[in-house]
Amino acid sequence: MEGMFDAAQARTASGRQGTRCATAAGAGHARAGGILDAHRRAVVESTHLVRDEPDLLPARHAVRAAAVAAGLGLIAQTKIVTAASELVRNAYVHGGAGTLVISTVTSPRGRRGLRLSVTDSGPGIPDVPAALADGFGTGTGPGHGLGGARTLVDEFAINTEVGRGTTVTIVQWVT
Ligand SMILES: Nc1ncnc2c1ncn2[C@@H]1O[C@H](COP(=O)(O)OP(=O)(O)OP(=O)(O)O)[C@@H](O)[C@H]1O
Ligand SMILES: [Mg+2]
Repeated sequence: MEGMFDAAQARTASGRQGTRCATAAGAGHARAGGILDAHRRAVVESTHLVRDEPDLLPARHAVRAAAVAAGLGLIAQTKIVTAASELVRNAYVHGGAGTLVISTVTSPRGRRGLRLSVTDSGPGIPDVPAALADGFGTGTGPGHGLGGARTLVDEFAINTEVGRGTTVTIVQWVT
């Protein structure tokens, strides 16, 4: 799948020390291929600050509403809402606080989808493949969130730099 995270690729895609990027083009959205391709038309629908647990439910509701509006089916809606939950939780649990940006996207072939980016300015993720492994966690959680989110969506990319923060971007396409 285009833009799909690949652990081996991530290991070789480090732009500089401390940077782990899931896209071959390296750090920086403008240069990243696949999931963040500039040729893919994107319209930002809404932006949400996520600072703590009380921000989670409104964020989930916004993603659900956007998924319905984008034309995703019930299962696809539920998958992206669940994935968003995990990424939003990670942003405030591990990253201190974050921002969720909800966009509708259209592929070069005219396929519609929903894209979410969750960004924080926290410590970053030093070892992305380890963080994606089921059961790996540095906090108190069981460590299913990030890897689980990846399996739920059509596309998944992580852009992270130690000491600077993390952006996780996911896309679910209308089938
Ligand atoms: N936004 C982030 N910033 C920094 N580190 C992160 C971020 N997201 C994930 N991580 C790191 O990746 C690990 C795995 O994340 P994952 O969501 O899978 O597990 P968890 O959050 O520890 O537990 P849970 O199963 O409750 O989600 C985290 O423990 C943390 O070390
Ligand atoms: Mg988590």
